[in-house]
Amino acid sequence: MHLVTLKDWSAAQILEVVAAGSALRKNPGLHARALAGRTLALLFQKTSTRTRCAGEISVAQLGGRALYLDWRSTNFGLADLGDEIRVLNEYVDFIVARFLKHDDVRCAAHASRVPVMNGCCDRYHPLQILADLQTIHEALGRLEGVRLTYVGAHNNVCNSLIAAGLKVGMQVRVATPEPEPPAADAELCEAGRRAGLYSATTDLRAALEGCDVVYTDTWIDMEYFDDPAFAAEKERRLQLYLPYQLNARLLEGRDLRLMHCLPAHRGYEIDGEMLDDPRSIIMAQAQNRLHSQKAVLLHLAGTRS
Ligand code: CP
Repeated sequence: MHLVTLKDWSAAQILEVVAAGSALRKNPGLHARALAGRTLALLFQKTSTRTRCAGEISVAQLGGRALYLDWRSTNFGLADLGDEIRVLNEYVDFIVARFLKHDDVRCAAHASRVPVMNGCCDRYHPLQILADLQTIHEALGRLEGVRLTYVGAHNNVCNSLIAAGLKVGMQVRVATPEPEPPAADAELCEAGRRAGLYSATTDLRAALEGCDVVYTDTWIDMEYFDDPAFAAEKERRLQLYLPYQLNARLLEGRDLRLMHCLPAHRGYEIDGEMLDDPRSIIMAQAQNRLHSQKAVLLHLAGTRS
């Protein structure tokens, strides 16, 4: 079993991981030897703080060990991806793959006989969203019926929120100046619309009405942020998206929880002071990446939680 996107997981699997993540948060010593003798490889084409740290520390806390592989210091780039994944299978028991392209995550999962977890690609970020569901459940006591408004660029995080919403009955409204850009999963959007669990609008204030959670993320994927070749597109997006910034004026008087998967670009998608707003559950989200990663590993290892 793999975790390539939440579209492939059942509601029961998602809810089991959410519950197990919360149990591990309350009692971090649970299952301390469950993965003794096992190794998690973290194969990354992109930089990371949360996904890498949560991966390395989670497997250590479960009695196993981690092997971090920066793609550029391996021979993955010189060979067939499937061949190299099969070789990695000879050494490790789990793989977190942070790849640029979703097709490569799919290819790795197809070639691998050990579980592959998608550690964020251009289309989806399922490990993040499992931690987010846990955080929402801990804050609100439910997932079904939660109204989440995602503000900003429709990206991998947004796709995964919509996929999760469809499974657990959470409504995702997207407030964006560019509804359903190429990064959006069109089939998923259509399925969400049909289920009444997804909508998109350019009207930010309307989208915030009655929402329980407001969530934002970077307007520019991390690999492009400081890329000179992307400078003109970056400038275009900053101008277009700035009215969609989460700030005190926009959120004044609103009873909601504030989320961001981090890293935050203060002054862009979010005013820095909002990270420490009493309504912010952003640091709980970051903390839950560790507990949720442990729950995912235990689930993939077949350990009942
Ligand atoms: N949210 C997230 O995936 O963080 P990193 O890019 O630091 O892993």
